[in-house]
Amino acid sequence: MGKLKIKAQVVRQECIGTGIYSLVLKAEPIAEQAVAGQFVSVYSSDGSKLLPRPISLCDIDKEKGTLRLVYRVVGAGTKEFSQLAAGEYVDILGPLGNGFMQEKKKAILIGGGIGIPPMLELAKELDCEKSIVLGYRDELFLKDEFEQYGTCYVSSEDGKHGVKGNVIDAIKEYGVKGDIIYACGPTPMLRGIKAYAMEQGITCEISMEERMACGIGACLACVCKTKDVDDHSMVHNRRICKDGPVFYAEEVEL
Ligand SMILES: Cc1cc2nc3c(=O)[nH]c(=O)nc-3n(C[C@H](O)[C@H](O)[C@H](O)COP(=O)(O)OP(=O)(O)OC[C@H]3O[C@@H](n4cnc5c(N)ncnc54)[C@H](O)[C@@H]3O)c2cc1C
Ligand code: FES
Repeated sequence: MGKLKIKAQVVRQECIGTGIYSLVLKAEPIAEQAVAGQFVSVYSSDGSKLLPRPISLCDIDKEKGTLRLVYRVVGAGTKEFSQLAAGEYVDILGPLGNGFMQEKKKAILIGGGIGIPPMLELAKELDCEKSIVLGYRDELFLKDEFEQYGTCYVSSEDGKHGVKGNVIDAIKEYGVKGDIIYACGPTPMLRGIKAYAMEQGITCEISMEERMACGIGACLACVCKTKDVDDHSMVHNRRICKDGPVFYAEEVEL
């Protein structure tokens, strides 16, 4: 069916941490097709903000026809979304991008900061043994929900929760082992994970984030550098919104 623009009704919204919101939307035709690692573009009702905001899918419930988005308020768009109440409508376009290429191998799922939410849907979908490594700045969110899917290991910058440091420190400290890594988080974290995976000789898929405009592959606002030449642009670039956001780490330059 491909991507669709729909008016999604808010089922519920709650604040789950400082400036972090969980928004559940009734979005049947999108939920029906969506997979872990994809995202939706969420539109503002303010006509002066024409560009939609990309937000990953934290949960896809195909039976109920709902999508859950977990996001941090950083600017005007996300602030507006945080004020949506049950019963109201918001325009969304999706599902966008590709998903994680799921393999039946012992997996390490790694989420850092606001890159944690999409790993929850992946943890639910993956049918294999899983270790889950979550990196927080300070405050925990979603950790309890991950525990039903695998063993969780935590790092925090201030050392209040788990290992003091980052996700690689947690992997080393706890001796976490796996045959494939799936990761989402800030670029410096992904850079470290790519280096770690190469050192260990294991497959690594990363979900990348870049400022976006169209969100559908038309404007080239979101390109990243790649090892190989792209079929669309004939240069060493790929569009994160359309060709990603998930890439094999070895394909992209970070
Ligand atoms: C594929 C993808 C998935 C994402 N998933 C999540 C998620 O699950 N939860 C979450 O909290 N955040 C997520 N983000 C980041 C989120 O899109 C930005 O925080 C949001 O667009 C900021 O909008 P704003 O109006 O509040 O902020 P402003 O800073 O006012 O935004 C101004 C403009 O910059 C763009 N922009 C700003 N920051 C980003 C960013 N980091 N990435 C892309 N565009 C940006 C906005 O879309 C907008 O057009 C994701 C980004 C991408 C690319
Ligand atoms: S945001 Fe326009 S090509 Fe990706």
